[in-house]
Amino acid sequence: MGWFVVTGANAGIGKAIAKDLIARGERVVMVCRDEERGRRAAEELGGTTRLVVADLSTRDGVRAAAAGVEALQEPLTALILNAGFWPTALERTEDGYERSFAVNHLGTLGLALALRERLVRDRTHVVAVGAGLMVMGRPALARVSTGEDFHPVRTYADTKLTAALGLRALARELDGSGVVLSVVHPGVFDTGLGVGGRWYDPLVRLVKRFWRRADQGGRAPVALAYRDDVHGAWFDELERRPWPPVTDDEALQRACLDLAASWLAGG
Ligand SMILES: NC(=O)c1ccc[n+]([C@@H]2O[C@H](COP(=O)([O-])OP(=O)(O)OC[C@H]3O[C@@H](n4cnc5c(N)ncnc54)[C@H](OP(=O)(O)O)[C@@H]3O)[C@@H](O)[C@H]2O)c1
Repeated sequence: MGWFVVTGANAGIGKAIAKDLIARGERVVMVCRDEERGRRAAEELGGTTRLVVADLSTRDGVRAAAAGVEALQEPLTALILNAGFWPTALERTEDGYERSFAVNHLGTLGLALALRERLVRDRTHVVAVGAGLMVMGRPALARVSTGEDFHPVRTYADTKLTAALGLRALARELDGSGVVLSVVHPGVFDTGLGVGGRWYDPLVRLVKRFWRRADQGGRAPVALAYRDDVHGAWFDELERRPWPPVTDDEALQRACLDLAASWLAGG
């Protein structure tokens, strides 16, 4: 029996994914940024879990997460790249990247790349949690990566778009390897995404109360983690859709993946 690895598993959609997997009797590795929050979520969820503490906005964090997964004796059945961040103000990481780009793009692609050999060995199903909002994004990699023209709504869309571009390049590279990689818009749910630090947070929270409950957010990513026929595909919840044309440029896809690869190799 293998392991299901879920990043950002302590809250929101990641916690819902972990909960659904545990209900199916699966064993779950919860990759969480904060040890205490991760421990509390694991206790609440029960089942068989392991906690790997890693900040996926940093190279060391991605390497630590990969090492935690590599240490598993049993196969890596699925890797669910869920951790994500919606920035409300411009903030840069130590190595100069805009923070949501670091989490959504570098952390997501970096972890998949760090585990690449293991994914191929175990014929892992990789599900990346994307966002339909990416169609509002601008694929201007140089500006997006540094947050040069930061905007509290567009930047999130930009970083989900560049991540999707890189994931398409990675999926192409993995064609025929046995790895099944898909990207999914999970639906819209009342989570902590994009809340914090703004005077109108109470209003945002109020609006979100009309959205679906966070604990229902695992349905589509979990379903895809079991499917063999979805490699390279984009899903809107459980509906397979054509990739939005803004993600079609193969040179740009390559550049998005290469940036994550050189970031991971650096330092
Ligand atoms: N909610 C929606 O309606 C919606 C719609 C479309 C797509 N999505 C996508 O769904 C995914 C989950 O979002 P959510 O709505 O569940 O948001 P959330 O409630 O804010 O949860 C985000 C998760 O990611 C983790 N995370 C953030 N930065 C991290 C870092 N540097 N290293 C490791 N983990 C980090 C968070 O950990 P902490 O608790 O420690 O911050 C948390 O566990 C994201 O990829 C998001 O883009 C969400």
